[in-house]
Amino acid sequence: MATISLSMTRLLTLVAGFRVVDAFWRMDCGVIQLGRVDPIITPGNVSGHVHIVAGPNIQADKSAYWTPYMYYKRADGTFVNVPQGGLIVYYLGRGQGKATSFPPGFQMVSGNPSLRAYDNSTMTYGDVNNPSRPVADRASFNCINYATPAPETPGFPTIMDCPQGLRAQIQFQSCWDGVNLYKSDQSHVAYLSQVDNGICPPTHPVLLPHLFYEVYYSIDQVDTSDGGKFMLANGDMTGYSYHGDFMNGWDPAVQADAVQNCLASTGSGTIDDCPVLKDSNDPQSGSNCPQQPALVDEQTTGILSALPGCNTPSAGPAPAPGKVCPAKLVAPNTAMDGQTRQVPTPGKTIVAFGSDSATYKGCYVDSTGARALVGASYADANNMTTQTCGTFCQSKGFSVFGTEYAGECYCGNTIATANATQSECSMACKGDLFSYCGGPDRLSVWTISSAASSTTSISSAPSTTSSKQTTSTLTTTSATTVVGPTVSGADYLGCYSDTVSSRTLTGYYSNSGSQTLDTCAAAAIANNYRYFGVEYGSECFAGNTIASSARSGSSCSMKCGGNSSQICGGSNAISMFQNKAFIVASNKQLISVKSTSAAASYNYVGCYTDAAGTKRTLTEYSFTDGSMTVEMCLTACFSRGFSWAGTEYANECYCGSGGISNGAIVASGGDGDCSMRCAGDRTEWCGAGSRITVYKKTAT
Ligand SMILES: *[C@@H]1O[C@H](CO)[C@@H](O)[C@H](O)[C@H]1NC(C)=O
Ligand SMILES: *[C@@H]1O[C@H](CO)[C@@H](O)[C@H](O)[C@H]1NC(C)=O
Ligand SMILES: *[C@@H]1O[C@H](CO)[C@@H](O)[C@H](O)[C@H]1NC(C)=O
Ligand SMILES: *[C@@H]1O[C@H](CO)[C@@H](O)[C@H](O)[C@H]1NC(C)=O
Ligand SMILES: *[C@@H]1O[C@H](CO)[C@@H](O)[C@H](O)[C@H]1NC(C)=O
Repeated sequence: MATISLSMTRLLTLVAGFRVVDAFWRMDCGVIQLGRVDPIITPGNVSGHVHIVAGPNIQADKSAYWTPYMYYKRADGTFVNVPQGGLIVYYLGRGQGKATSFPPGFQMVSGNPSLRAYDNSTMTYGDVNNPSRPVADRASFNCINYATPAPETPGFPTIMDCPQGLRAQIQFQSCWDGVNLYKSDQSHVAYLSQVDNGICPPTHPVLLPHLFYEVYYSIDQVDTSDGGKFMLANGDMTGYSYHGDFMNGWDPAVQADAVQNCLASTGSGTIDDCPVLKDSNDPQSGSNCPQQPALVDEQTTGILSALPGCNTPSAGPAPAPGKVCPAKLVAPNTAMDGQTRQVPTPGKTIVAFGSDSATYKGCYVDSTGARALVGASYADANNMTTQTCGTFCQSKGFSVFGTEYAGECYCGNTIATANATQSECSMACKGDLFSYCGGPDRLSVWTISSAASSTTSISSAPSTTSSKQTTSTLTTTSATTVVGPTVSGADYLGCYSDTVSSRTLTGYYSNSGSQTLDTCAAAAIANNYRYFGVEYGSECFAGNTIASSARSGSSCSMKCGGNSSQICGGSNAISMFQNKAFIVASNKQLISVKSTSAAASYNYVGCYTDAAGTKRTLTEYSFTDGSMTVEMCLTACFSRGFSWAGTEYANECYCGSGGISNGAIVASGGDGDCSMRCAGDRTEWCGAGSRITVYKKTAT
């Protein structure tokens, strides 16, 4: 995505020296479709060249915004797609007087796909005070170089070497004839005299909001060492055919309010400063509204033998009228049509799962350092739903559950009053785009109705000679919460069996004559183990899974070597605790890294196979470090110019530039096969034996 400072600089240059109404708003758009589609020029059919169609984060705006995709023709004659770095749409208050909203059904195209040269003769309308200007100035390019800013050019820059990518800009017609919603020759609209400002011609007296797109092409991520050529998807090697399309899909009332109030005077570009847009903003639209499967059955990314469609590269200056080569259309998936995501109401929204149901409790603050629900947990980046989480927690005997960050599930037995606002639980569930599953550090919490009501009393206790653990009556819910020995930072789970030949906790071990519950708890907390326990007075074990079952409380009756008022298990019996500070390891979806001269972000890709002895997956650079973290590995790979990075076996880091060459994906989320925590940070996963946790540099 764009840096705001650059965009702002641009806007200031555009408006300099002009009497303008310079209020505006700016929206991020996410890709909704990639392929040869063009709902204006070829509705319902295959279009001439590949477009990238984007939709905005404002949910009341169902408009579609699209522009051509970009390719690189390699010296060997093949083509490779250029990663797209995002689209920003500006609604600007320009021209004279107050703009009218785009009417329902309105659509328009700016630019001409067949042009291959700068047209200096077709001019905008103008008068003495508002000189006309070549219409061709509607499109421009900026080779982004933070170190040495380059000027904008009407076609592609002569040297396509842009360290931070290439930005295309397209201005739209802001003058409407007031009658026609669309005419295929675009004569229903006209440009302002100055293209980005000025006056409307008398034939097109109705002023519309001024639309302006910034489109980012990550040409810096393409290997150009073979001396190939960049081109638009229609084969244009000059850039003069740049065009943008707009199909109005606004909720009329929301658009009218925003045009009235946010283009007028207070617009700052920030959605939060425009109340009606703020209300409709989905800050998680990137993950809540994912790209839809291609509607045209052809390959558009990766290495291609030809440009999709019948497009031949052309350098002009003669126009190159396009034609449409057929391709098969895929039947659209209509399963989600007409559905909307409902915000749940505490106490009122009830969902069924299995033979039970859960009642919504609210949105809660949560953090990796202090979990609100400390029972079992799991993560699933594909199929998480309220129902799967509820089923999981119920099967573990818990009565409260919560979903977080779209794909995480946490269980517990108690929860206080909701302490976050509902809008913070704004991420759609990975396995159900029409329900909410928390947010970053926010839990959508539910209580299981049947389990919560079955409170029972049981009688049990570790029988002991010491002062604290005398027989007592314990109250518990159907999830067996056991009261017993207490140690700060942990919950007592009960007395569990253990054998020398098959240990119940296998992650950590120490043996000391001065062992206490506190020393064992401290070791488990420091090493981030979920469970720990003391046995035979002196032994401390810790691990993340319990491989045995509970046994009679009386088996745990030995005093701790280091504190005779505490119980430290017994013979083949372990006093089992759960670490309340345990942090579920997870792979952050996006990690920012810095080298001495630049910054970048890496996305989590998944867990892959990778075996020593065979050819490694990422081969170009590797190192081992006893304090390995994902961040350490990504920084090392980024500093050396590698787009791919992976951690393995807790302390190994591998880098590569060509992507995954030999590995096969085994998981794309959760702790599946990549189940080793990083040596330097036990809250992150760092692969496992023959398993690599892979990250890839993002498009911008
Ligand atoms: C789609 O386009 C092809 C090629 O231009 C044409 O032959 C066909 O009739 C079109 N189909 C529809 C449904 O318009
Ligand atoms: C317009 O372009 C043509 C062809 O490049 C050139 O000969 C002519 O001088 C240009 N006219 C102006 C006004 O720049
Ligand atoms: C919010 O509620 C949870 C669950 O009751 C609790 O663990 C957490 O400390 C609370 N946080 C704040 C900031 O109030
Ligand atoms: C999760 O979803 C994937 C893809 O939809 C499916 O193949 C897989 O079987 C699902 N896994 C479970 C455990 O439901
Ligand atoms: C010994 O254990 C008891 C009970 O947990 C605790 O109150 C006491 O502070 C401990 N003594 C020392 C010296 O740690």
